[in-house]
Amino acid sequence: SQRKEIDDTLAAFALNSTQLHEVKKKMHVELERGLKKDSHPTASVKMLPTYVYRTPDGTERGKYLALDLGGTNFRVLVVKIRTGMRNSVRMYNKIYAIPQEIMQGTGEELFDHIVQCISDFLDYMGIKNTRLPLGFTFSFPCSQTGIDKGDLVCWTKGFKATDCEGYDIVDMLREAIKRRKEFDLDIVAIVNDTVGTMMTCAYEDPKCQIGLIAGTGSNVCYMEEMKNIEFVEGDEGQMCINTEWGGFGENDNIEDIRTRYDREVDEGSLNAGKQRFEKMTSGMYLGEIVRQILIDLTKRGLLFRGRITETLKTKGIFETRFLSQIESDRLALLQVRSILQTLGLDSTCDDSIIVKEVCGAVSRRAAQLCGAGMAAIVDKIRENRGLEHLEITVGVDGTLYKLHPHFSTILKDTVRELAPNCKVDFILSEDGSGKGAALITAVARQHHREKQ
Ligand code: BG6
Ligand code: GLC
Repeated sequence: SQRKEIDDTLAAFALNSTQLHEVKKKMHVELERGLKKDSHPTASVKMLPTYVYRTPDGTERGKYLALDLGGTNFRVLVVKIRTGMRNSVRMYNKIYAIPQEIMQGTGEELFDHIVQCISDFLDYMGIKNTRLPLGFTFSFPCSQTGIDKGDLVCWTKGFKATDCEGYDIVDMLREAIKRRKEFDLDIVAIVNDTVGTMMTCAYEDPKCQIGLIAGTGSNVCYMEEMKNIEFVEGDEGQMCINTEWGGFGENDNIEDIRTRYDREVDEGSLNAGKQRFEKMTSGMYLGEIVRQILIDLTKRGLLFRGRITETLKTKGIFETRFLSQIESDRLALLQVRSILQTLGLDSTCDDSIIVKEVCGAVSRRAAQLCGAGMAAIVDKIRENRGLEHLEITVGVDGTLYKLHPHFSTILKDTVRELAPNCKVDFILSEDGSGKGAALITAVARQHHREKQ
């Protein structure tokens, strides 16, 4: 029957406890592999060093410029940090658009555009003649050899500008500033958004030693012991590691849980074969998985009266905010139908029930997979410290986590089940990674001064 066919289709998305334990175990293996000298260069979970040695301690101060590139919004910010008082950070920011032609044009065009936005912002703030230190949140994998040096490993998400991969992003920004011959900046730090988020949250809660992004992309960073990071000199203290866990699965080790819909989404993406875990867990792709399932159900005559419309063939129609609305429990089915209507999809009442079920199956699996990954991270930290029991805080940001009605609850439940020896608190980052980038810039300058 129709019901059975739909149930069978969605059953592939229901992961049981054994499967989730398996994902946790495999993630643990990949985290370890990424830290070892021999396997690091080819690891699916890249485990990139960040040269961030500690979270903020409250002594940071100064006035900084910050850039925040790679999420839904591109922002330029001024961040003023004062010591001594609570809530002593002030921020002024402006959001700029990055048109798709620029995201996927040439590297020079992209960086010229960024510098153009900075120029506009400096004019707007009236600070073009003050050479401020700058922290650059750049939410892509960078192979760093210092706090201000980072070669782009590969673009992810919706970016694909030419002549950037393999090049130092800080140099590219410096050169674009030089080309413009209008103002000067002192670029102090390049920062992944997970790291910025962890720092933002750690400023409020010193127990925060993990940063999680569940947004356009999916990624985690955490404080690792220097002695475990084989490819970085030194054995004392800690360093934050940007895991780039979105790449998990690139070595075919989770093929058993990937479905034909995941493969279709992968094949239609800008980076086929890459970021397989990210494509099962983040906002940029969940709607695409939903769309692939809906197309299949329609082809099989189980939905939309068997009619595939142009809308359904359109990439990217199901943005995170629509999935979040469709799955909201407060919404009557009639409202689900009206959302589908605004997307250009004519649905019956039965259709709207099915669409909601499809969305639920896809987002539940995403939250559980994130939870399984997080369970591997917290247990690793617990083992690092030789503890029976660990209490730790995760700083989180991202539209999926913030907007979706169930994602965060399922994520937390999964972590509780899979890492029973850890008490994990999640706190939301309210001010984005820009604030964290400024804090890192402040810490980096202090460090620099102390060394001189
Ligand atoms: C923001 C950060 O707060 O969260 C961004 O400042 C980051 O840099 C983002 O990428 C993640 O969320 P999204 O959903 O916009 O990708
Ligand atoms: C992608 C990027 C990663 C980033 C994440 C969240 O996975 O590769 O660097 O942290 O998206 O924005």
